Amino acid sequence: MFERKNKYSMSMIKDKDKDKDKDKDKDKDKDKNKQMSKDKRIRKMIYIIILLVVIMVIALWNQPVYREYTIQSDKITNGFRIVHISDLHSSIYGKEQKRLIAKIKAKEPDIIVLTGDIVDDIKGEEGAYQLIDGLSEYPMYYVSGNHEGWHKDTLGIFRIIEDRNVIHLKDELMKITINEDTINILGVIDPAGIGQEKTRGSEKYNRRPLDQALVATGIMEENTEDFFTLLLSHRPEYIEIYKQFPIDLVLAGHAHGGQIRIPFLLNGTYSPNQGFFPEYAGGLYEEDDLKMIVSRGLSLNPLLPRVFNPPEVVVIDITGK
Ligand SMILES: [Fe+2]
Repeated sequence: MFERKNKYSMSMIKDKDKDKDKDKDKDKDKDKNKQMSKDKRIRKMIYIIILLVVIMVIALWNQPVYREYTIQSDKITNGFRIVHISDLHSSIYGKEQKRLIAKIKAKEPDIIVLTGDIVDDIKGEEGAYQLIDGLSEYPMYYVSGNHEGWHKDTLGIFRIIEDRNVIHLKDELMKITINEDTINILGVIDPAGIGQEKTRGSEKYNRRPLDQALVATGIMEENTEDFFTLLLSHRPEYIEIYKQFPIDLVLAGHAHGGQIRIPFLLNGTYSPNQGFFPEYAGGLYEEDDLKMIVSRGLSLNPLLPRVFNPPEVVVIDITGK
């Protein structure tokens, strides 16, 4: 009897121990699960942080991209390559612009065009002159932008640019031959003109409406039927005026790509003179018989970051059909 009782209590103790062990195992499992889900959460967080960092790096990437376009025309036989630089705002890429200059040279342009706001009115002029100097082996054509017009010494800037063998088109048209193709190239002074009181007396540089500036180039008297006609003008928002003239291609800037872009969804948030959600923020536009390429420009301003909108150099091949 005693022995049976003892056996019984022994088995009770064993069962209790087993239960205890089970509980311990359960606790261990719980702890393990907790640890695993904690590890999972941490891993997830790390992945999210890495993804955000990658998105941020891509979004705020501020080294120039080289965007290429091809424009075909039956007025062209051999064809040529234009490098289109706009809205540098004196920004500097590499010591004395060396990085930017090397990359532009690698594109082997036939001519280089500068469509305004190359010199900034506040940031100084050095970056602009360094770039122009570095590219002096190429024929260069320039039109002014509003920031050059607002500079305290606009005429001084113009003189320095012109002294560097850059052809400054001030409501002017000229015929040039590139690779045996002769074209009309014309350029207009930005409608901001020269904002400084002291230079307003100079009739040539006073602001005038853009349609008058285009008429002043003499385009209406030129043969535009047979010769490819290229307009350099800082402002893209005047496309309705450009369409009234016999122009094949307009190269413009000013809009800075609309500053903030959302890939595949939004081509720019805000541009000067176009406001929010600008229509002509950057890219190729074709309306009626006119084509217009708007450069997103090379401006770098730490106070105004470019988002999904890297600085841009435009490369255009003009070819026959
Ligand atoms: Fe501008």
